[in-house]
Amino acid sequence: MTAPQAVVLVGGEGTRLRPLTDTRPKPMMPLVDRPFVAHQLDHLRRHGVQDVVFSCGYRPDALREFFGDGEGHGVRLRYVVDPEPLGTAGAVRNARDLIDADRILVFNGDILTDLDLTALVAQHERTGAEGTVALTPVDDPSAYGLVRLHDDRSVQEFLEKPSREDLRPGEPYLINAGTYVLEPAALSRIPAGVKVSIERQTFPLIAAERALYGFPSDAYWRDIGTPDSYLDAHMDVLSAAVGTNSPAGDAYLGPGTQVADGARVGPLASLGPGCVVADGAAVDRSVVGPGGRIGARASLRRAILGEGVVVGEEAVLHDGVVVGDRATVPAGVRLAGPVRVPTGSTAAEPAPAG
Ligand code: GTP
Repeated sequence: MTAPQAVVLVGGEGTRLRPLTDTRPKPMMPLVDRPFVAHQLDHLRRHGVQDVVFSCGYRPDALREFFGDGEGHGVRLRYVVDPEPLGTAGAVRNARDLIDADRILVFNGDILTDLDLTALVAQHERTGAEGTVALTPVDDPSAYGLVRLHDDRSVQEFLEKPSREDLRPGEPYLINAGTYVLEPAALSRIPAGVKVSIERQTFPLIAAERALYGFPSDAYWRDIGTPDSYLDAHMDVLSAAVGTNSPAGDAYLGPGTQVADGARVGPLASLGPGCVVADGAAVDRSVVGPGGRIGARASLRRAILGEGVVVGEEAVLHDGVVVGDRATVPAGVRLAGPVRVPTGSTAAEPAPAG
């Protein structure tokens, strides 16, 4: 049995994280001191997986430039690029020429987890499955793929984004955690060169033949696909709720970042390299990209700032505000809630209602 290879899907447009993903693919979004997908490579390496294919689509150059052939990250890394968006199954199929292992591990490129991959593969072998899907418990499965299992853990039902009628209140919901083990037979089901969704098309097909299994686990799990979950992932890394190779602590300050004596940074703030925080400013539970300038007495709370954002004196960014790269929030402007400031723009305060 050869060591498993991994295919990491990193080609989506990341629309829910716009405008931050206007300028970078979601897997290159920083998570504390490194791009998000670097944490996934760390996780793979811990389980002995050293041969990785990045299946790219949207903005592949940023990934290539940062990771190269993977040598600096302890893995052999190769790339395939969708000629056009191929969907989650098409993107796996597109990597087929680079796969020579007996089986592959597939990862969505936006999942932070400490899942025991070794145990996942062991169950896959034991059951003789064609595919095994890692599952995680959630309270509300409606934004995910709800999976129901038979007693032997074979998949009974795979319902992508279930509607209210699909749900049975009180049921312990298990969802697709975005990590799979696939046999070559599963890959052979995916037609080449066309857009195919693994969740909506391939898995229901395999499940119908009772060859798809689930692997439920209480491991730490979070997808970083929305501003809220992206922020929460930072909180979890900084508070060591999940073990990573990033530093935990009240705040992370990138190299060269300067914080004035009278400013308060933290709890749970992450500032990229080369930021400046002026006197009297407060930054908590927020993420500030490289080169951010936070003016005197400005206040950030649950805000996400892209690269090179300038926040003026006494500006207020609270409760889910997302600011695109190189945008400016002028002095005194107050923004709160799920406001998105476009890349390179100057934010204006919302007009008072009425
Ligand atoms: P949203 O637009 O916000 O839904 O994000 P997304 O485009 O990343 O889609 P989603 O979160 O459903 O994708 C799950 C994973 O698959 C992510 O890691 C994506 O990068 C990846 N992915 C999604 N679609 C494609 C595709 O067509 N090609 C490739 N190569 N990867 C994809």
